[in-house]
Amino acid sequence: MTERPFVEVRDLRRVFDVSKPWLNRMLERQDKQFLKAVDGVSFDIRKGETFALVGESGSGKSTVARMVVGLLPPSGGAVSIDGISMTDRAVSQERQRLRRRIQMIFQDPYASLNPRWRVGRIIAEPIRAFDVIQGEQAITARVGELLTLVGLHPDDAKKFPHEFSGGQRQRIAIARALAADAEFIVCDEPTSALDVSVQAQILNLMRDLQERLGLTYLFISHNLAVVRHMATRIGVMYLGRLVEVSEGKRLFSDPRHPYTRMLLEAVPDLAMVGKPREGVKGEIPNPIDPPSGCTFHPRCPLVFDRCRVEAPAVIDGVACHAVNQGRAAA
Ligand SMILES: Nc1ncnc2c1ncn2[C@@H]1O[C@H](COP(=O)(O)OP(=O)(O)O)[C@@H](O)[C@H]1O
Ligand code: SF4
Ligand SMILES: [Mg+2]
Repeated sequence: MTERPFVEVRDLRRVFDVSKPWLNRMLERQDKQFLKAVDGVSFDIRKGETFALVGESGSGKSTVARMVVGLLPPSGGAVSIDGISMTDRAVSQERQRLRRRIQMIFQDPYASLNPRWRVGRIIAEPIRAFDVIQGEQAITARVGELLTLVGLHPDDAKKFPHEFSGGQRQRIAIARALAADAEFIVCDEPTSALDVSVQAQILNLMRDLQERLGLTYLFISHNLAVVRHMATRIGVMYLGRLVEVSEGKRLFSDPRHPYTRMLLEAVPDLAMVGKPREGVKGEIPNPIDPPSGCTFHPRCPLVFDRCRVEAPAVIDGVACHAVNQGRAAA
């Protein structure tokens, strides 16, 4: 029997109604407008690995994250974690027990930490909410332990969030995420707001904690250099769809989808020395009115007739007619 993946995401979809107010629509004779933020995304995450989602801003990464942790109901598709559905209403009790095991870390720790609470109370909140430990002394001791675990001091529990730097605040957010013994942590651009040197420290801390605690991560970033440092496997998103899913190392050594290649060309650290840098060409189209067929076709150097009419399915980890027909030169 093959082991079931820890996280299973199947054909996940989310449509937003972005219509103008009724009166404007009547005056301008416009129909309702819908935006497909996530359009049929499927992937698995194995226990203990880091699955990364990369893509330019607006590609649907945060929308996937919010649906995976249950903060946003999907328009279609399914998510299950450790065999428990996050999307099926019938199992809400089981899902309640699952909540404690899933946490999310956001880009801006300051916005997600209550500024009026002392750090000790912030970190203790999930411990109390999930009734993990009883008794004030034991809770205080556990908070001290968690602060030490993320590289802060137990006395920091007495301070307020504004007394810390951005990097330290992200450490506090991580301590809080771990407080109720989370197993699966969804990190949405966790270091994007930090200086490069601080970023590296936080990423190292996260990897360290993963090893020590056996954590599973869904790691989201627009930055391929960051993802390379973190990911076991990587999914590349474009306009709400996954265009390539690959083992982390392979994505960099053997990028197959034309969009992945374009992204790699644009990463300064990774561009080959002496080779003129191509960069990312063109702009992301308006997702309210996306291009037909393969939505990447207006920007694609390999485009041919079929691309304009037929959306490519994901075959062997790549959604591209040229790759799948052997037209893409290595
Ligand atoms: N609540 C919302 N209402 C309308 N449109 C939204 C909403 N949330 C996200 N979107 C749109 O969905 C698309 C994907 O957004 P998002 O998931 O935030 O992308 P990313 O995290 O990759 O930058 C974008 O076009 C964004 O404008
Ligand atoms: S399907 Fe066609 S347009 Fe889309 S990435 Fe492949 S070659 Fe380019
Ligand atoms: Mg985002």
